[in-house]
Amino acid sequence: MIDKSSRVKVAVQKSGRLTENSLDLLVRCGLKYSRGKDQLMCYGENMPFDVLFVRDDDIPDLVQQDVCDLGIVGLNVIEEKRLAFEARGISPLFELLMTLDYGRCRLSIAVPEGVEYKGVTSLRGKRIATTYPNILARYLREHDVEAEIVTLSGAVEIAPRLGRADFICDLVSTGSTLAANRLWEAETILESQAAIIATPVPVSPEKREWIRRLTMRIDGVQQVKESKYIMLHAPRAKLAEIRKLLPGSEAPTIMPLEGSTDKVAVHAVCRENVFWETLESLKSAGASAILVLPVEKMLA
Ligand code: PRP
Ligand code: ZN
Repeated sequence: MIDKSSRVKVAVQKSGRLTENSLDLLVRCGLKYSRGKDQLMCYGENMPFDVLFVRDDDIPDLVQQDVCDLGIVGLNVIEEKRLAFEARGISPLFELLMTLDYGRCRLSIAVPEGVEYKGVTSLRGKRIATTYPNILARYLREHDVEAEIVTLSGAVEIAPRLGRADFICDLVSTGSTLAANRLWEAETILESQAAIIATPVPVSPEKREWIRRLTMRIDGVQQVKESKYIMLHAPRAKLAEIRKLLPGSEAPTIMPLEGSTDKVAVHAVCRENVFWETLESLKSAGASAILVLPVEKMLA
């Protein structure tokens, strides 16, 4: 029998920009899972994590209400809900555990082609359609602009054409939605990326430990993405120069080379991408037998 209460429930976007990356991240953290028949859940086989697939806008609520222990969702949704909960006097709020290195986009005000726009003051007295009324309201307040916020639940980009609004405030990722609807991006009001939030309700020590392990592993996964392991031979006399060329590496390991007095082997983890230019500079500085290997896992 599986003890349900000791399993960590993670809410993930059902189908959208974050779905694939979020599942991929959990897999890289070691999770092996099987899909439920209804496709609405994944059950962890080797770790006590279960994934629930839901609408992204529902994720903060599910975590806030302790239906899920964790949620993976964009900062845009997190910030909007945080402001909404705060306005309703709800506390304690879900906790932002960590940001993730995908799902980057921005919340922007966009203007229909042909409409005059000379900066935020042009918004005065106009109607702005959005699914992010709380973030937009804060922005307008901060800029001392009074405007009418038209709250929609989707398809914001067509609101000006339908005559429902003068401007829109919506997410922009590649910009193709705006372009297709003859809108241009005038102001960025929030930068966003994926993040993990946690329930405000205290969890059992076992769950807490698993959540801690997961965040450690995510840290490791995010670090290795750019990391490379470099091995090379270097003349002792050129060691200082060569060390300076290794991008983002801390203390390299220096080892003697059997049968050689003037050369050593250098092994280093570089926390940045290693480009051909770097290898060429290393070679010019006297390095030879240069090998660059991907890093599979890392635990700091
Ligand atoms: C956003 C936004 C736009 C689109 C912009 O929707 O509402 O429709 O992405 O992306 P683009 O600049 O690459 O064209 P999202 O993916 O967040 O879906 P949702 O609003 O239905 O959750
Ligand atoms: Zn959404």
